[in-house]
Amino acid sequence: MARPEGQCSAKLDVDRLNSLLAGCDLAKHIIYRSDTGSTNDDAIAAAREGAPEGNLFLTDFQTGGRGTRGRSWHAPRNGALLLSSVLRPEPGIGPPALTRIAGLALCGGLRSSTDLEVKIKWPNDAVINGKKIGGVLVETIGTRPSAAIVGIGANLNFSAAEIDAGDTPVTTVLDETGRSCDREGVIAAVVIAIARHYRAIRAGDSLLSEWRELSAILGGWVTLTTDHESFRGTAVGFGTDGGLVLALEDGSRREFQSGRVIDWQAIA
Ligand code: BTN
Repeated sequence: MARPEGQCSAKLDVDRLNSLLAGCDLAKHIIYRSDTGSTNDDAIAAAREGAPEGNLFLTDFQTGGRGTRGRSWHAPRNGALLLSSVLRPEPGIGPPALTRIAGLALCGGLRSSTDLEVKIKWPNDAVINGKKIGGVLVETIGTRPSAAIVGIGANLNFSAAEIDAGDTPVTTVLDETGRSCDREGVIAAVVIAIARHYRAIRAGDSLLSEWRELSAILGGWVTLTTDHESFRGTAVGFGTDGGLVLALEDGSRREFQSGRVIDWQAIA
C-alpha cells in the first residue's frame, strides 16, 4: 500500500535525540546507524566487547530484525521505533523483570506521546483494541548474566498493510490516529520511561501494580499456548515474578512463566 502523501518520515535526528535524552542514564551514548541487521545484535556484540550500561542503539531500518520465538520483525524504513538498550543489571533482575520494565515503558511512552490507549498483552506485546503495535525482546549475555539487552520495536509512521506480520493482527500509530507522530519524541519518552522503571525495580518495587493496571487481558477469558499444550481460562492475576495466573476450565489455578496468549476476550 502506498504511503499517504506527506506522511513519509525522515531519518532520525540524532542531535535532537541527544538533546531530548540529555541526562538520561540509559542514553549516555547513542549509537545510530541508518541501516543495520538488528539493533539487538549490535547491542549484544557491543556488550560482549564491554560496552557499559547506557549504550543505546537506534536505527531507521533493520534487515534482520528479530522478534520473540525466533520470529522476524519487519518495519519500513524511517517509520518505526527500533531500539536496543544495554543494561548491566545486578543479579536478581532477570528477563521477566526487564520485560515488565520494557513493556511498561513502551506502553507509557506511546500513551504519553500519542494519547492512544495502549495496553500490555502478557508478557511482551503492546496492543490497541486487540492489535499489536509493538513488542519487547529481552536477551541476556553470560550465565550470571553479565549484560541484558532490552530490544523494543513499535509501529509508528506507516500503515500495517505495509508489513508482513504473519498471523498476528497489527496496527500502527498512523493507522490509529490518521497522522504521523514525532518519532524522536516517542523514542525519548520510551527510553526515559525504561530508565525510570529500571530505577524503581532496583529500589525494590516489583512494578506489578502498574503491570496489572495496564494489562489488556486481566479478568478476560484467554487461550494460552505453550510449546506442547493449549489452555483456556480466566486471567486472574500475575505471580511475584510476573507469571500469568489462569483459573482454568477444570477449576484449577495455574501460573505460567511463559507461553503465548493467542486469543482473548478483551475487557472494557
Ligand atoms: C516481539 O516479538 O514482539 C518482540 C519484537 C522486538 C523487536 C525489536 S526491534 C529493535 C530490536 N532489534 C531486534 O532485532 N529486535 C528488537
